[in-house]
Amino acid sequence: MTDAVLVVDFGAQYAQLIARRVREARVYSEIVPTTITAADVASKAPKGIILSGGPSSVYADGAPTLDPAIFSLGIPILGICYGAQLLAQATGGTVAATGRGGYGRTAMTLTAASPITVDFPEVSDVWMSHGDSITALGEGFVAMASSDDAPVAVFGNENLRCYGVQFHPEVAHSEYGQALLERFLHDVCDLPGTWTHASIIETQVAAIRAQVGDAKVLCALSGGVDSAVAAALVHKAIGDQLTCVFVDTGLMRRGEGDQIEATFTKHFNVELIHVRAADRYFAALAGVTDPERKRKIIGELFIRIFEEVARDLGAGTGGDGPKFLVQGTLYPDVIESGSGHAANIKSHHNVGGLPEDLDFDLVEPLRSLFKDEVRAVGEELGLPGEIVWRQPFPGPGLGVRIIGEVTQERAEILANADAVVLEEIRRAGLYRDLWQSFAILPAVRTVGVMGDGRTYAYPIVIRAVTSDDAMTADWARLPYDLLERIANRLINEVDGVNRVALDITSKPPGTIEWE
Ligand code: XMP
Repeated sequence: MTDAVLVVDFGAQYAQLIARRVREARVYSEIVPTTITAADVASKAPKGIILSGGPSSVYADGAPTLDPAIFSLGIPILGICYGAQLLAQATGGTVAATGRGGYGRTAMTLTAASPITVDFPEVSDVWMSHGDSITALGEGFVAMASSDDAPVAVFGNENLRCYGVQFHPEVAHSEYGQALLERFLHDVCDLPGTWTHASIIETQVAAIRAQVGDAKVLCALSGGVDSAVAAALVHKAIGDQLTCVFVDTGLMRRGEGDQIEATFTKHFNVELIHVRAADRYFAALAGVTDPERKRKIIGELFIRIFEEVARDLGAGTGGDGPKFLVQGTLYPDVIESGSGHAANIKSHHNVGGLPEDLDFDLVEPLRSLFKDEVRAVGEELGLPGEIVWRQPFPGPGLGVRIIGEVTQERAEILANADAVVLEEIRRAGLYRDLWQSFAILPAVRTVGVMGDGRTYAYPIVIRAVTSDDAMTADWARLPYDLLERIANRLINEVDGVNRVALDITSKPPGTIEWE
């Protein structure tokens, strides 16, 4: 691993944010657990180490520590909050409990020059955690800034190239935080910042070629950004050794299948097998209303169809059929795997659970990337904005947005309604600001009146949420005139709809999807 920085994870949100900020400074970062040994670190040969903040006090029972030998490897270290306290302790300083908790904006004053604070004015606002305080520093370390609450807000030892900051440079509220990280990376660690989207593509293309040689590779396209970027990347690396499979379940957004086909066959010239399987899905889902059963049926049928295609292509026969399977696994999935939620959500999406006898090896070209990097790589590869910026869509598709039995008629009504919602959201310029915006069809009918006649048709529920990571979400405050336009169009243009409602539930307690 050359030109990389390790971020030691003392608290997941903090570490992920730091890793992203490091990458914004065009330096490759990798998150590692606190249990990493000095030998492991040495074998990775990083150019710098960042110790993240975390919720613990260094004095608490079971507070995470770090192999002390890591501090003597001669690798530059930046400790942040909890990480700064560990650094202070490990290098002969002391940390005292102040008994005060909480976080907040604080004015910090520079008291001595340091290479990491050269861009700071004498006084600046930082986002500080008022936990424990560093009260004394080890030999060779000097204090470089202070605040009312923290006599040692920045400290360091220029010979050892080790620094600690008692605030969070990674959060946007810390005025010169990114500048501090960049000084540490570019100047202290001597990392020039060459991790760009073009370089990611170059590295991945080489890695994919080395991994698969001249073997054939299969990729399931879901319509989402991750599988599309993964496929485009693999195609760039190995051209017609790649075959993509797109299974149209009849539960996709309107026009999605055609767009995938147009993009991948016409634009990229990829070998694409488009399986039109709507009838099989509706037959399998007939009479089923339980959400978990629906998900299971949809997931299993997908796997069965994919398996049929793979076998037709000669997979698992020992001949020259496909031996590799592309998966759009992202870095947060890698970090969080094992935490259940993420792994579960992804299981269908990523074609988990293929029969063992097919015996695919995985190609995961997005394994080290965050979502925004995946989008940037997609743009760089020339994928259309509509795919690159597409809002997330659940693997089981409209199947979990029809509440009750899934039928072809209901799927068509919902796909039409969803298209209206998205069209108006896009027209209002809100599409990229919203995490998701879509329509739901609860399979109950209500009475209405239209013209001279009584109607008896379905309601459509509008769901629009803002979120950073889908773990929590807030309902979006869509403008009333936009809502009115959507409602009018739904009732006038979508046959089978006579009522419109708005879901104003946040997550928690609601989930984003209804099933
Ligand atoms: P919930 O409804 O749990 O959803 O708040 C969180 C996020 O995950 C998406 N989602 C799925 N994605 N396969 C997927 O690939 C699924 O089975 C699935 N279920 C939910 C959902 O759209 C939201 O972004």
